[in-house]
Amino acid sequence: MQNIQSYIEKNKDRFLSELIELLKIPSISADSAYKKDTIKTADAVAKSLEDAGCDVVEICETDGYPIIYAHKIIDKNLPTVLVYGHYDVQPPDPINLWDSPPFEPVIKETQLHPEGAIFARGACDDKGQMYMHVKAMEFMTTQNQLPCNVKFMIEGEEEVGSVNLAKFVKENQQKLSNDVILISDTGMIAKDTPSITTGLRGLSYVEVEVTGPNRDLHSGLYGGAVANPINVLTKMIASLHDENNHITIPGFYDNVEELSKDERAQMAKAPFSLENYKKALDIDAVYGEEGYTTNERNSIRPTLDVNGIWGGYTGEGAKTVIASKAYAKISMRLVPNQDWENITNLFKKHFESIAPKGVKVKVNPHHGGQGYVTPIDSIGYQAASKAYQDTFGKTPIPQRSGGSIPIVSLFEQELKSKTILMGFGLDSDAIHSPNEHFGVWNYLKGIETIPGFYKHFVELSK
Ligand code: BES
Ligand code: MN
Ligand code: MN
Repeated sequence: MQNIQSYIEKNKDRFLSELIELLKIPSISADSAYKKDTIKTADAVAKSLEDAGCDVVEICETDGYPIIYAHKIIDKNLPTVLVYGHYDVQPPDPINLWDSPPFEPVIKETQLHPEGAIFARGACDDKGQMYMHVKAMEFMTTQNQLPCNVKFMIEGEEEVGSVNLAKFVKENQQKLSNDVILISDTGMIAKDTPSITTGLRGLSYVEVEVTGPNRDLHSGLYGGAVANPINVLTKMIASLHDENNHITIPGFYDNVEELSKDERAQMAKAPFSLENYKKALDIDAVYGEEGYTTNERNSIRPTLDVNGIWGGYTGEGAKTVIASKAYAKISMRLVPNQDWENITNLFKKHFESIAPKGVKVKVNPHHGGQGYVTPIDSIGYQAASKAYQDTFGKTPIPQRSGGSIPIVSLFEQELKSKTILMGFGLDSDAIHSPNEHFGVWNYLKGIETIPGFYKHFVELSK
């Protein structure tokens, strides 16, 4: 029987090469051209769970990509941990900004990662972090150190809204029953500052369409005399924030919980350098809602952002034209208690109401999800905290994140259990961006820390 440190030391090359093989398959859930590859990835994940010692591995078909379910039940009287992760990845675009091809993983040294980092789409979000759990499982089963039951649920549609997973969870409550849910799909403050994510923001995503005249027009013959949909759309969008960067949609803030002074003071203690933040992004100033700090703006406050805007002529050279239509994709990040469907309705009502005469406005809702906050006095949180203390020698800091994993609030609603978010990524890992990477050190530290969670969770549950 080996301990986790020596097991990693012995097997780390294989842990890396296996992950690299998984990263080579372009499982882009948003793009149907990659359907075969995405399914191939599901099969590879299933195989890896079998190899890691799961007794039951199922490839569960859905209306979309399969969900991998696996388990090892050692004793019905012991607690059960449910691990969730996703094997799908974001599209790699813009591809020309990658220093190496997104699906040809390479390990390169960086200033922050002298031990090397794996560069590939999905390295951190979430194949790398998901695979840490597979390898931690392998350690526990082969070294006789699995202290409880484990279930795995790995999906392939997280990056496109987890619609089929929601259905799967609602229909399989018994199968998925557990005492705690464990996810590594978030980040931590810094390599020397472990943190546990205690909150996620919700999301409402909409697409808007503004239609003016029934065809594209000559901008000289008609310019100035009919509404230009692009002019109108940009003006409407600009009006969604006031001069203090508050969102102007009536009722938008109604259910937003204001944190107490004490809670805000607690938050402000987390290590953060505004200078480094600006430097990392090459910006000379931060920007955002008046009255809140950068860390508050990106975690406990809701936002509204345009994610894409198009219309008219964008090709080479000039074309004098008034487009018939203009479009934008808009996301709103929400905080707990804001209901995403309600916010989507408020947006729709407001956006339609501010349309000037001469244009038609359509709002098409995409996906969404609720936010999440979890207390730090739960057994799950305490177990995670102890696991980090063992491997980092430091107590992790609780931190609410700005990102979203909409399925987490549904887990709580349907499965009645708390989720513990043990993320090992860093903000600089460039998830969803060109040159996404995941530190080799972070990957191995994750594998090292996870078994401790199981051990402490079982001990604290007694
Ligand atoms: N893993 C991310 C979410 C995340 C990253 C949370 C870092 C906290 C820290 C996840 O894969 C993701 O990208 N979620 C989407 C939402 C989804 C509905 C497409 C997001 O946050 O944009
Ligand atoms: Mn993710
Ligand atoms: Mn993602």
